[in-house]
Amino acid sequence: KWPKNITIKEVGPRDGLQNEKDFISTEDKISLINQLSASGLKSIEITSFVNPKWIPTLSDATAVATGITKVPGVTYTALVPNQKGLERAFEANVDEVAVFMSTSETHNLKNINKSISDTFPILRNLVQKTLAVGKPSRGYVSTVFGCPYEGPIDINEVIRVSETLFEMGINELSLGDTIGVANPKQVQELLEVFLKRFPADKLAMHFHDTRGTALANVLVSLEMGITTFDSSIGGLGGCPYAPGASGNVATDDLLYMLHGMEIHTGVDQKKLLSASQFIQKKIGRPLPSKSLQASTSQ
Ligand code: HMG
Ligand code: MG
Repeated sequence: KWPKNITIKEVGPRDGLQNEKDFISTEDKISLINQLSASGLKSIEITSFVNPKWIPTLSDATAVATGITKVPGVTYTALVPNQKGLERAFEANVDEVAVFMSTSETHNLKNINKSISDTFPILRNLVQKTLAVGKPSRGYVSTVFGCPYEGPIDINEVIRVSETLFEMGINELSLGDTIGVANPKQVQELLEVFLKRFPADKLAMHFHDTRGTALANVLVSLEMGITTFDSSIGGLGGCPYAPGASGNVATDDLLYMLHGMEIHTGVDQKKLLSASQFIQKKIGRPLPSKSLQASTSQ
């Protein structure tokens, strides 16, 4: 009934830390990423090369990307919004470039200062340039299950944006529940449509846990054959341009559930938990992950 092996894409150093009010030192970010690498994760989104005025907490992207100890076999990804970001990401020698846009006109505008139609040619150019240097490119589509400004999103618009991103040449599409509004019924209905159009191994699910439905949404996705999930260490995170958005499903909790179900991830739960404890201490408040809290209260 469930897949035997799952790929976890750790997004905490980017999606998590982009939302912190206080600047986490470059040294601590590097230490976190090195610990995540040592835990057996095969894919880590380490930072974003966005306008540092928009996301000051990740303004040290170059120092982070060039300061980490890269482990062979691990893909180190960075989020890139435009040509300037791409140049910075290439200089810092990231392994994979993640491009992103929204299915909602208002969220796209608030998040990247462009309309959807003006975003397409920019992303096409980024993906083509990335492929030209022999690197893969991942695509994110945001507000798939609802937008903080526009409410529910027409599935045809999600399909249109997704198809356009695939046509550009992305190797994987991550479907984002940016503000954590989805429930399992919605996820099932969306995937029924999506899996008729796109292969399961080209899709990843990116659930934020704002309303506590993220693990339930993972479970229904698993049952439908999805094998790649984005998650964030400790449950850190959110999108600063989506009011009320909170962290991704916690990697710690995802591992607890999957390993308990005898689904393999290749990640060492103890090492992951200790990385989670490390960043919780640096941030200085309890993080949302329930298994992290359970581990520290024992
Ligand atoms: P803009 O202000 O319209 O950019 O921002 P611009 O092209 O007009 O440039 C303004 C200035 O910024 C210029 O400098 C540029 O050089 C500089 P000046 O001439 O004034 O001195 N600049 C840059 N500097 C460094 N790196 C860059 C860069 N770009 C411009 N890359 C832009 C447009 C897209 C850049 C901006 O809106 C931006 O950075 N947005 C990113 C916001 C963001 O990071 N949001 C969170 C990530 S998305 C997310 O969390 C969702 C996701 O997790 C999935 C989900 O959950 O759904 C992925
Ligand atoms: Mg996100």
